[in-house]
Amino acid sequence: MNEVFEKVTIRGMELKNRLMMSAMVTNFSTSEGQVTDRLIAYHRERAQGGVGIIETEAAYVHPSGKGYANQLGIYRDDLIPRLKRLVRNLHGHGAKAAVQLHHAGRRTSRALTGYEVVSPSAIACFEGDIPPKGMIVADDTGGTLPKELTQEEIGQLVDCYSEAARRAKEAGFDVVSIHAAHGYLVSSFLSPFTNKRQDAYGGDKKGRCRFLLEIIRAVRKEIGELPIMVKISGDEFVPGGLSLADTKEIAPLIEEGGADAITVSAGTVGQSGEDYPIDKPTYAFLRSLPMYTPRASYLYLAQGIKEKVHIPVIAVGRINTPSLVREIVKHKKVDLVALGRALLADPFFPRKMEHGDEKAIRICIACNQGCFENLFHQRSITCAINPRVGREDEMKFDPAEKPKKTVVIGGGPAGMETARILSLRGHSVSLWEATDQLGGQLQLAYKAPGREEIKSYLDFLLAQMERLPVEVFTKAKVNSSFLRELSPDILIFATGGRPWIPEFAQSDVDGILTAEEILRGEKAAGESVIVAGGGLVGCEVAELLGEQGKKVTIVEMLEDIIPDEFSDTKKYFENVMVKYRIRVLTESVIEQIAKGTVIIEKRTGETESLSADTVVLALGYASNLNAKEEIRPGPGCKVFKIGDCFKPRKIIDAVLDAYRLATSL
Ligand SMILES: Cc1cc2nc3c(=O)[nH]c(=O)nc-3n(C[C@H](O)[C@H](O)[C@H](O)COP(=O)(O)O)c2cc1C
Repeated sequence: MNEVFEKVTIRGMELKNRLMMSAMVTNFSTSEGQVTDRLIAYHRERAQGGVGIIETEAAYVHPSGKGYANQLGIYRDDLIPRLKRLVRNLHGHGAKAAVQLHHAGRRTSRALTGYEVVSPSAIACFEGDIPPKGMIVADDTGGTLPKELTQEEIGQLVDCYSEAARRAKEAGFDVVSIHAAHGYLVSSFLSPFTNKRQDAYGGDKKGRCRFLLEIIRAVRKEIGELPIMVKISGDEFVPGGLSLADTKEIAPLIEEGGADAITVSAGTVGQSGEDYPIDKPTYAFLRSLPMYTPRASYLYLAQGIKEKVHIPVIAVGRINTPSLVREIVKHKKVDLVALGRALLADPFFPRKMEHGDEKAIRICIACNQGCFENLFHQRSITCAINPRVGREDEMKFDPAEKPKKTVVIGGGPAGMETARILSLRGHSVSLWEATDQLGGQLQLAYKAPGREEIKSYLDFLLAQMERLPVEVFTKAKVNSSFLRELSPDILIFATGGRPWIPEFAQSDVDGILTAEEILRGEKAAGESVIVAGGGLVGCEVAELLGEQGKKVTIVEMLEDIIPDEFSDTKKYFENVMVKYRIRVLTESVIEQIAKGTVIIEKRTGETESLSADTVVLALGYASNLNAKEEIRPGPGCKVFKIGDCFKPRKIIDAVLDAYRLATSL
């Protein structure tokens, strides 16, 4: 018996299963918060995927509470007709619909809203324009001092929530959800970290809960018997903020106040690794739950809350596999499981799980490249391994009008993804890989510490290659004459990139290895190592070497290591550098290597001589440009280049190349 797919009720509302899609701002609405066709198509696909209930993204109840450029709004009556259309689309595919009412509070800016930033107390997210190192904030969350709300203004905001609830009911939503987590307005009232008021809305727990409880009461008046859900941060992971012990006392107040279910997330703005209480889990300051954090990181918080209330409790946070969902539900750890990024990566997760086709699920690898990273830059979200997110109407998987004979050279992510989609669309596909195994860069990527999750995507692609009628050839070097024999209509190069080797390493110097050789475990470094290049791969290899007890120095030409990476990734590696005492030399380059000595030149012109047994090169990749030049198909064959072989970039770019091409042929 599969308990996940048993019916469950919340305040009498029946859900077909115990899976909820967690609220996620997409930035697919208009700048005024109107539902767009794109937002509908995105939601429709997730409803088709079989999830029991979809919680829309945070919808602002007043324009002063807008936190993201193209967030959903519910602050005006003229937004209702399109909200109605959104709901109809969810209902049409058997999903219940919840709308999450939201006000960003101090987590926004006047530049974005045109209004003064407001908060329970006049405490900025941070002082000045630049957030402190390690603080995780949306780019537009300024250091502006918010205005402390007066009691009259608080009353007006409660009215905004109740008006929004009326609109929600009119639009046909089944549930009204209240966002009281993550440092936005309601949660900043709940938290002693941000609420220093001495009046009825501050002080003790009861006072800090008053705003939320007034909202619940006002919403109830508008929606009658419809369920109300509340999302809280079970622990804010910040000194002086809410701890689990605190939220265990707050949750019963929320239940008594009239909520019908509680979702337990965690975190707030301001959490950072610095001065971090050591009793907290080390991942706790990484609010975007990247792949370095354990799966189901916040489950223990939801379980803690469940001990204290009688209403259903919903767990959320890096729950990304069917076995994890099953285990949580089977052992009644909580009542429902909310999936966020897992449903970006694969909207059909629930349906595939229900039908026992779990190998076909594209598991979220928590890379955050398409979702959080875009959101925090105020862009529309997508997904690195599922670029259809936000392009549901654009990227069709329709059968090919004229099936063609296609040859894909290179079995990395771009090659396999292209082969998969071409095959699904009815083209004949053969995939040719020069090495003895498929996977390309993925085979390497998951071997770095904390990046094991990447293997889930590799496993998905490998399973797809087995299942689909793609002819796969490994240890297969294709040359021009063989290609002419094959005579494909379409030839796609996905041969990847190769490590870039600088001049100083091109002569025969002992002790120079590539990051690839280390990550693959093909070669071992000496005791004292210099890593040339402080990009992501350089940092990963430095971490691996640090873990092995080596003395490591990173030499990076730019001002900072991993400059173009997401703030959480940066923060993670800053901690890695401290943990393994890795020395980081920025604005520095390797000038010369000779007999165990490496000469470093700094931007200031100074030089430093370091002794090292090994230099590991992590200086980026160069396209495998030769491929196209060397191999020529016969006349009439169309040739394309995708992924790193076109231009070395991130996985999100390689997979998007594959989708774009394979859906267009
Ligand atoms: C792009 C993005 C937008 C999000 N927006 C919201 C939001 O509007 N409201 C909310 O309560 N949580 C939001 N979250 C947090 C998710 O609901 C969820 O709690 C978090 O992603 C952890 O769950 P997951 O590991 O299943 O993704 C967002 C997450 C992402 C990735």
